[in-house]
Amino acid sequence: MPPLKVAIAGLGTIGALLVERLTRQAEFIAHAAARQVELVAVSARKPRDYGSAVINNPLDLAQRQNVGVVIELMGGADGIAHDLVKAALAHGKHVITANKSLLAEHGMELAQLAEQQGLCLNYEAAIASGIPIVKSLRESLIGIEINQIHTILNGTSNYILCQMADEKISFQEALATAQQQGYAEADPHLDISGEDAAHKLKLLMSLAFGCRLSDIPTQGIQDIHSLDIGLAHQMGYAIKLIAHAQKNGEYISGAVRPMLVPLESRLAQSRGTHNVIALYSHHNHLCLEGEGAGAYPASNGVLADIVDIARGMRLPVFGVPVQQLAPRLVKEQAQPSAFYLRVLVMDRAGSMAGIAQLMAACDISLASVSQPPLDKKEQSAPIAMMTHPVLEDKIEQALAKLAASQVVIAPPLAIKIADG
Ligand SMILES: NC(=O)c1ccc[n+]([C@@H]2O[C@H](COP(=O)([O-])OP(=O)(O)OC[C@H]3O[C@@H](n4cnc5c(N)ncnc54)[C@H](OP(=O)(O)O)[C@@H]3O)[C@@H](O)[C@H]2O)c1
Repeated sequence: MPPLKVAIAGLGTIGALLVERLTRQAEFIAHAAARQVELVAVSARKPRDYGSAVINNPLDLAQRQNVGVVIELMGGADGIAHDLVKAALAHGKHVITANKSLLAEHGMELAQLAEQQGLCLNYEAAIASGIPIVKSLRESLIGIEINQIHTILNGTSNYILCQMADEKISFQEALATAQQQGYAEADPHLDISGEDAAHKLKLLMSLAFGCRLSDIPTQGIQDIHSLDIGLAHQMGYAIKLIAHAQKNGEYISGAVRPMLVPLESRLAQSRGTHNVIALYSHHNHLCLEGEGAGAYPASNGVLADIVDIARGMRLPVFGVPVQQLAPRLVKEQAQPSAFYLRVLVMDRAGSMAGIAQLMAACDISLASVSQPPLDKKEQSAPIAMMTHPVLEDKIEQALAKLAASQVVIAPPLAIKIADG
């Protein structure tokens, strides 16, 4: 077989290590792929010392005669990454990307283009880099009707929540530590808002449930206080940013939100930047765990994608051809659930009674109420409540009334409690 000729756009965290591994592990990769893999061109923004392989404009990689695979490692949902992937497919090149934002936004269009052209669009590193989940869902689990997915897909927010729990520090302090350790970007918006996890969950839902990509409700971790983490712990729970989805007949729902999960669960026990993906069907339960990010795990995913292309493996981008992906039908499932509610009230007599009355007026029955020590500095008294199972609509109504109450001095917080 002639060598497989690859080009890399983006020489940052993943790209730089990939270049090094393609050289250092050349024989090992050739053995796995049953042919040589040759790096023929690279491109980035700043000048690099890779000799004649350097191409100034990444878009030129799409048109180069000697390139068989374009590897996009620049990032961003739009702009140059989108333009390059489209152009590469249009010019008959296979594409590998680690870019979940791009795929979450333009995955349908790009998958269609790849299929029309008979080309691969591979993206193992885009979801939970250290876990081979794309391969698992497209190949090993293709015969299993998955009906539930429960995951931790964002290592940065998991690290922040673990720091808040272990070190008893505020969200802002934990975020600063994550940034110092290199686990959070200078602009951490995508991670802490839940959007990064939502991008990955969208892709997982399409792979697992055979549906088209569509947006899902997303809530981040910015409003969680260390007080909430401590109170949840006393009640036997950890707070985690959970990305979950379920398929019920033809209806599919999904969301990213902080949740209280039982301390003994796998999700609660996931530490630091680890990712967890639990998949359920009527007959199976499978839980995969691994590093969620980092140059090594991500470059492993890209190398696996390269070897698949070299071996001639051609699979539909989302497991089945785009035409067969079902539209995602959403029916709000009126499933009651228990909630944790935290309210900061004025430190004065009658505040607690007022809150209890308000909850009763909203027809919410409380399983427990606790009043942790006063925060003298803030002159506020926290009240933590656990509800009996209740429809989320009622919690929304209660939150609106609590926010409007004269005794409540900060926006109240409600977090869903996962079933055991
Ligand atoms: N890092 C991880 O752990 C990880 C894990 C899984 C997936 N991902 C995804 O993988 C992709 C790459 O991540 P990364 O962490 O390697 O990114 P990164 O360290 O920020 O590197 C990005 C690279 O792209 C280049 N680049 C950016 N904009 C460009 C432009 N307009 N023209 C030319 N080159 C441009 C940069 O060039 P310069 O260096 O010259 O500035 C840099 O080399 C992203 O989609 C990310 O979400 C990352």
